[in-house]
Amino acid sequence: MTKIKIAIVVGSNRRESINRKLAQAIVKLADGRIIPKFVQIDDLPMYNQDHESSLPASVARFKAEIGEADGLLFVTPEHNRSIPTVLKNAIDWGARPYGQSVWIGKPAAITGTSPGAIGTAIAQQHLRQVVANLGALVMGGEAYVSFKPGLIDEAGTISDQGTKQFLQNFIDQFSSLAARLANHEVATLVA
Ligand code: FNR
Repeated sequence: MTKIKIAIVVGSNRRESINRKLAQAIVKLADGRIIPKFVQIDDLPMYNQDHESSLPASVARFKAEIGEADGLLFVTPEHNRSIPTVLKNAIDWGARPYGQSVWIGKPAAITGTSPGAIGTAIAQQHLRQVVANLGALVMGGEAYVSFKPGLIDEAGTISDQGTKQFLQNFIDQFSSLAARLANHEVATLVA
């Protein structure tokens, strides 16, 4: 089986990010079926249209890494009932300059965790709207993870069996979707 390259975009720039821990645990559940690439977004400058004609080096690197991927896994916190600024900034750079977006036709899956009861549900809905509008092919379903201390240990193992099985299904479904779409040109309505 050909391994698919999955760019993992964690929407947090926090050193001890629980969303990065969740992303690492999901990679572990993929059990070698994907080639994960954790894409750095916290070194991107604040988006500025003035710099589109000569992209900063970190932006060029970010766009290349997304462009090379067969699929995108977003794992994001919720900030003030939306997506964190650092993530929106990365998405904006990826979409520009006009006509050179890296999001078009990319299979994408969205999840995230927060200590709150609804586990980033509103941020995920906002993210879905933004990236789908940019032409990403967002997997259906919902994957909201309410974080509790001890949910993910240092080795990236998920302690709660229900959550583990749910995320197993999530990554199985997504890796299968991304594999099916890899190397296919997908027509979309956006530039
Ligand atoms: C939060 N947090 C939060 N949580 C939530 O469930 N809904 C929300 O709207 C917010 N809003 C919010 C705003 C800001 C500015 C911060 C810093 C935090 C709490 C958040 O879930 C918690 O800090 C997580 O630990 C963030 O995930 P990472 O960065 O650890 O991955």
